Amino acid sequence: MTAQKIRDEFTKFFVKHSHTPLPSSSLVPDNDPTVLLTTAGMQQFKPYFLGEKDPVKELKTKRVTTIQKCFRTSDIEQVGDPSHLTFFEMLGNFSFGDYWKTEAIDLAWEFLTQKLHLPASRLWATVFSGHGTIPRDRVAERAWAKHLPKSRIVAHGRSDNFWGPPGTTGSCGPSSEIHWQLVEQPQGKPGGDNPEFVELWNLVFTEYFQDERGRLSELPKRNIDTGLGLERLAMVVEQKNHVFETDIYQPLIRQLRQLESFGRTSQLDLDRRRERIVADHLRGAVFLLADGVRFSNKDQGYILRRIVRRAADQFLQPEFSLDPLVTILIIHHQRYPELKRQAASIQQQLADELELYRRVLNLDVASLVKKLRKSKPRAQSEVEVLAGPSHANLSADEAFTLYATHGLSLDRLQRLGYIFDQPMVERKIAAHQEISRAGATKKFGGHGLGHGPETSGLSQDQIWQVTRLHTATHLLHAALRQALGTQVRQNGSDITPERLRFDFTFDRKLTDEEKLRVENLVNEKVKADLPVKWEVIPYQQAIDQGALAFFKEKYGDQVKVYTINDFSKELCNGPHVEHTNQVGKFKITAEQSIGRGLRRIKAEVQSP
Ligand code: SER
Repeated sequence: MTAQKIRDEFTKFFVKHSHTPLPSSSLVPDNDPTVLLTTAGMQQFKPYFLGEKDPVKELKTKRVTTIQKCFRTSDIEQVGDPSHLTFFEMLGNFSFGDYWKTEAIDLAWEFLTQKLHLPASRLWATVFSGHGTIPRDRVAERAWAKHLPKSRIVAHGRSDNFWGPPGTTGSCGPSSEIHWQLVEQPQGKPGGDNPEFVELWNLVFTEYFQDERGRLSELPKRNIDTGLGLERLAMVVEQKNHVFETDIYQPLIRQLRQLESFGRTSQLDLDRRRERIVADHLRGAVFLLADGVRFSNKDQGYILRRIVRRAADQFLQPEFSLDPLVTILIIHHQRYPELKRQAASIQQQLADELELYRRVLNLDVASLVKKLRKSKPRAQSEVEVLAGPSHANLSADEAFTLYATHGLSLDRLQRLGYIFDQPMVERKIAAHQEISRAGATKKFGGHGLGHGPETSGLSQDQIWQVTRLHTATHLLHAALRQALGTQVRQNGSDITPERLRFDFTFDRKLTDEEKLRVENLVNEKVKADLPVKWEVIPYQQAIDQGALAFFKEKYGDQVKVYTINDFSKELCNGPHVEHTNQVGKFKITAEQSIGRGLRRIKAEVQSP
């Protein structure tokens, strides 16, 4: 069965069950400042979920089905492995206050086992095990028990089986996922990132609204929002080992293999990875262009630039054209007439961008480096000093600038023969992303991403300031809990190079003594010069060890935990200083109320 047949069968099935088929919305969401790109099928239906619009009045139905174009930046760096994608199509069925959990589960089961004939013995389900005041999902459990043995119904907590909201606030709810067992004899169970399984379908029982403080309230109506990834489903139906072997990508990959400019290396694994990056990124780029995104250094345009340049980096010859690939892609995506309609303009824009990128590359990275050195004659990394002066050595700052402002990937720099301290540059990139994140999380729908340089435009010094304030924030959080009690919980945080801002739950003004005590506690830890350590461990283990985590975020199975002795332990992606005395002297500059039960502290650090 081809991908096109799967799309048709899906729509036909849900139409038979009284759903109205609606078109995919654009990859650039309309009137929704909380996200940059469409990441899920439910986004265009938010007003119906929230009860702001009446589906019967507007759509003449309470049941709809779509095949939605989605783009997620969260996995961009992993693309190249067998399963991660940026652009994908999401098959979905939605109920706005109409049918509920049992029917949604029954429909999904019938479609997979009776329409697609997937063997039931390879299917598993997960359900929500409960969290805080939200109870375990017994209804979903019972519904699954009609179809599956108990041993293949697995309960997970908030991080696995609760979805949404996309963006900072909105509708969300417990979910139930359908997983496909990839191996004959799995050792584990589905959930987290267990590679023995692949998640196919996410059924979300949207019944809550989450406000900006992370509090949940019941929505006026209970809704269903499901999402089934077409590429993964095609992989299972076509009995392939990974998404790139399906008929969705194969024509493109076959064409790519014929291009001399793509070239082969002596390593098959590396070549496969390069092919997949091109296939995923180019498919995404063509769809973004067709939805009106233009190359730029910010927002959606930066994402587009980044994926096209990363795809270009996979070609071994500098002079090449993407035209034959785009042509194949368009031929194989007839169901999206917007691609064909704009074929010439898409080709032209890609060619212009490639030309621009070539100029950046040819421009001689060497002369760029020279220019950088003129403006910062002393910018030399330790590695460079050790390696002795040679045109092939770059300081970490230089490599970072080439990456952040000129769009050169680290891969490309290495291929050009430059030597630099890669871990150090990666740390700088991570720091840079962290800074952009505060402003961008909202826009990126919390899906995280490296952001364009223009979103921060910070110097190295400023990045370092922010890193110090980030560690100061962990110290402050722990100090507040020690001084005021564990009712203190982080509610928000914002860092600029000048100051940190920390919002937390507490029901009264802090006294001067309390503020002083908190300041002293932080400064004590700074003076003690404690090591700031991190490790990646399973989420549950981190929580069991008492790490602070925030309800409103969706964590993966493996999480990064930062620890400062026995004083502070928090789930966090960093970046942080390595020793607390790098933070410098800490001073609270303001303490105020920002709503009932909510306080805000602003603080600064002085250079050590
Ligand atoms: N909104 C859910 C998801 O994106 C189900 O469609 O996974």
